[in-house]
Amino acid sequence: MPMPSRNNASPPVLTFAALNAAPHELYRDLRPEFPFVQREDGAFLVLRADDVQSLVSDPRTRQIETELLRMRGIASGPVMELVSNSMLFSNGDTHRRRRQPLSRSFAFRMMEGLRPSVRSLADELVATSLCDGEMRLRDDYAAAIPAITIASILGIPRSDVPLFTSMAYRVSKVLTTSWTQADLPDIEAATSELSAYVAALIDDRRRQPQGDFLSDYVASVDQAGELSAVEAIMQIVSVVLGGTDTTRAAIVIMVGLLLDRRDGLWQVLRDRPALVPAAVLESLRYEPAVASIPRLSVEDICLDDYVIPKGRPVILSTMSGLRDPQIFADPDQFNLLRPVGRWHPVFGGGEHRCLGEALARIEMEEALAALCTSLPRLQTQDQSLRIHGHAGIRQVEELVVRWR
Ligand code: HEM
Repeated sequence: MPMPSRNNASPPVLTFAALNAAPHELYRDLRPEFPFVQREDGAFLVLRADDVQSLVSDPRTRQIETELLRMRGIASGPVMELVSNSMLFSNGDTHRRRRQPLSRSFAFRMMEGLRPSVRSLADELVATSLCDGEMRLRDDYAAAIPAITIASILGIPRSDVPLFTSMAYRVSKVLTTSWTQADLPDIEAATSELSAYVAALIDDRRRQPQGDFLSDYVASVDQAGELSAVEAIMQIVSVVLGGTDTTRAAIVIMVGLLLDRRDGLWQVLRDRPALVPAAVLESLRYEPAVASIPRLSVEDICLDDYVIPKGRPVILSTMSGLRDPQIFADPDQFNLLRPVGRWHPVFGGGEHRCLGEALARIEMEEALAALCTSLPRLQTQDQSLRIHGHAGIRQVEELVVRWR
């Protein structure tokens, strides 16, 4: 496809395979010359930090709604129902209506109250494996923390947590770029199951309010009368979706990066726990668990001398922006003392900025603090950290860690 451009040297068109093989290297090499590249599926990947930051909430873009699903030939079914009713994939008043009943509950101040229980969960998970001398960091630790935390926010009985966790991870695959047509039947089935499960929880709280998060949510939704029954369900499913795979990947990446360094930083964190929040933020910059933010161009967007035409999917590459030397000095260095500012770009910006940022940071901080404190000799078994993906939620392979 010829590149729409007003310039001779057009930004290259890259395959998924090339982008996934060495995303940091490609972004680093292309960013100085081109503000964006095109992907083989027709999406435009914006590479520079300033552009990423401004286009997130620029009137020339809007949130992708159902376009990506339609591009993949999906026009109906449970996933379409989720996407077309979720705050994550909506705009303007529809988005505000859907997000508003949850905004207050997820604010930093409210989430701080959960910190002690997140920490006891992390300590409990470490204690469970302590005698084994090793554990699967992804499946036995990083996956459990966000899933059990969300389950407890939703008041899900502990006996249902394994079922809930498995549904959540099966559904959350839909937000990655790695699912194929063969995965679809399971994603569809899991979406139906999770939606039905959440619908039953909502019904239960409507009949018997329990003074918990979900009872307050149902009461505020009913009082405002602005959400349909399916919308009320899908905002909760969206929270589950947004809050599981993302944080699981982020915890594995953070711990894997720190252990791979083998320079004693692990012990430093144990002795100076005040550095833990900085380690969380720097790991999210250095290897973000969410690599991009999707938008659609609603008019032609001119960057330098190149044009992203109207009506195209635009992938704002936070992964590239977070290593842009225009903003981050010496970007390929992992540096705990680096200032990242009040609003870490990995959580997006504008009206869709991550609803779960406070919770994600608390989960990461407590997950790291529990490990550093209890397992000062932690190291990787024989594999180092393996991360896949150049956009969307990135995938991490299992990482076995040991302490004997
Ligand atoms: C390290 C972990 C996380 C990262 C990097 C992350 C990143 C993001 C980003 C970049 C967005 C903006 C998407 C856009 O503008 O299109 C977003 C939105 C969202 N996130 Fe997160 N997230 C994380 C954890 C969480 C958690 C723990 C929750 C919930 C408990 C959550 C719930 C959501 C929701 C519901 C939205 C949609 C907000 C809206 O559309 O208004 N996220 N997240």
